[in-house]
Amino acid sequence: MTDEFPPIGLGTMGIDDPDRIAAAIEMGYRHLDTAQIYDNEEVVGEAIERADVPRSELFVATKVWADSLAPDDVLETTAESLDKLGVDAADLLYVHRPIEAYDPEETLPAFDELRDDGRIRHVGVSNFTADEIATARDILDTPVFAHQVEMHPLYGQTELLADARENDTHLVAYSPIAQGEVFDLPVLNDLAEDHGVTEAQIALAWLIEKGSVPIPRSASAGHLRENLAAADVRLASEAVERIDAIEREEKLFE
Ligand SMILES: NC(=O)c1ccc[n+]([C@@H]2O[C@H](COP(=O)([O-])OP(=O)(O)OC[C@H]3O[C@@H](n4cnc5c(N)ncnc54)[C@H](OP(=O)(O)O)[C@@H]3O)[C@@H](O)[C@H]2O)c1
Repeated sequence: MTDEFPPIGLGTMGIDDPDRIAAAIEMGYRHLDTAQIYDNEEVVGEAIERADVPRSELFVATKVWADSLAPDDVLETTAESLDKLGVDAADLLYVHRPIEAYDPEETLPAFDELRDDGRIRHVGVSNFTADEIATARDILDTPVFAHQVEMHPLYGQTELLADARENDTHLVAYSPIAQGEVFDLPVLNDLAEDHGVTEAQIALAWLIEKGSVPIPRSASAGHLRENLAAADVRLASEAVERIDAIEREEKLFE
């Protein structure tokens, strides 16, 4: 797998049918996002096994949950995750949230160790503030490859996007269609009509224009195809600015 993310990844939270994920892989999704707390790493592993696409073409990301961030637990639960996923190494392992057992000086060296041992290829963090990610960068031997945060037209993440750009970190956008709320936004209704596409595709195209990597989740073949096709939707700067200017700020996850 190259170190570049494809423009659109696949969120898998709540998907418990391996055939749906396998179908997404065969449709063209290459970046798969799961987490220990989603309790579906085995499902993702089964999908990788079933899909007619070599493991080497996939980018598999998972996350260590907050209660397993003591160093020994990081090592132990990551070994379990790799087992469930059926892979020798994960392409990316995130700290899921910097809470509970997270202690930067203790937790992050365990992530470096996993990388040195070849059990993970890259280290990521999720739901960090700009200060928290700065601290992580100071402690880690390896660069922070990706920062995964909630980002959609109702939550623009201007500061963290700038931080990611400045530090050569990928910003991965979760809940990119705001779990369906983008369909109720007049600006997106207008742009969808103008471009002859859906509001979900406008939201995803906007995230790509901003330089982030959206990971929409869908269990429906039609939506999966539609979301993948959003990578080909071009938005002029004026359209991007109209979405930037939406004033409602709404976060789905605290
Ligand atoms: N790091 C974190 O803390 C964190 C937190 C939350 C999420 N995530 C990751 O981000 C992924 C995506 O976020 P999310 O699952 O919260 O929300 P999302 O991707 O914004 O929305 C998913 C919902 O939108 C629907 N949908 C998807 N595509 C659609 C389309 N083209 N048209 C209409 N409806 C569509 C899906 O239903 P259908 O199945 O019917 O299509 C599903 O109900 C997660 O799966 C997970 O991998 C990470």
